[in-house]
Amino acid sequence: MTDAFTLAHLSDPHLPPLPAARFRDLAGKRALGYINWTRNRHKYHRREVLDALVADMQAQRPDHIAVTGDLVNLALDAEFAPAQAWLEGVGPPQQVTVVPGNHDAYVRATQDRFGGTFGDYLKGDAGANGTAFPFVRRRGPLALIGVSSAVPTPPLMATGRLGHAQLDALDRELAQLQPDQTFRVLLVHHPLNSASRMKRLTDSKALRALLKRHGVELVLHGHDHIHSTMWFEGSERRIPAIGVPSASALAHGHYPAAAYNLFAVTRDDGKWRCVQTVRAIDADLRVRQIKQATLL
Ligand SMILES: [Fe+2]
Repeated sequence: MTDAFTLAHLSDPHLPPLPAARFRDLAGKRALGYINWTRNRHKYHRREVLDALVADMQAQRPDHIAVTGDLVNLALDAEFAPAQAWLEGVGPPQQVTVVPGNHDAYVRATQDRFGGTFGDYLKGDAGANGTAFPFVRRRGPLALIGVSSAVPTPPLMATGRLGHAQLDALDRELAQLQPDQTFRVLLVHHPLNSASRMKRLTDSKALRALLKRHGVELVLHGHDHIHSTMWFEGSERRIPAIGVPSASALAHGHYPAAAYNLFAVTRDDGKWRCVQTVRAIDADLRVRQIKQATLL
């Protein structure tokens, strides 16, 4: 068996606190989002939770870290510098990969700020500029394939979309990767299946068809803020798709407390193995293992 390569996954930090917004920035969709933040979300998304979770994750010394979006909340200009400082604290671009979430492209005015701010963290090995999706980054036995489902949407909507151009490019990228030599991990903010019309990935059917054709070894997503394991058809075997709670959340309602996942990837007897370890925060802000599962 090969030495394990460990990939850590966290998502949806919704970096708190929200900076004071200027009145003129709060038109339309952001007005509702601002009210929602000041009335509710600020109680549940806590910086001390996020800091405790990241410290525990770093102590595990993962080989690479994936962050699947929603780094900010309303995509206000003033949110991006603190988010950049936070991400630099998580790790350098060589060791951390991000994809954007719907909150990172909350309104049209700042929909390109994510790529501009975090470009080095979503730059493919081919050296394309930071806003080209999909990108592919090879790290150890992994090929991390990042796509963007982040599009501005009307108020109360949190849908995502990949679009034809990105799906076509993904088709070409996957056709080039060798599954017997590469453990392929798809990073996408939205889950591949959703019960909510308001929150779904609108072209998930096309993505699932593509994955069925090519296969990947693992899909990692965020968006739902819950622990989630779904299985999808692949080319040779089923594909596990794993979602994780918000990295800054206190438990509230049906949302669990902040957690992250570790995926230990090995190659054994010509087959990929992948063991998931879930580490979550408790009421005293201590992080401990709550589950381990063999995915492959
Ligand atoms: Fe989110």
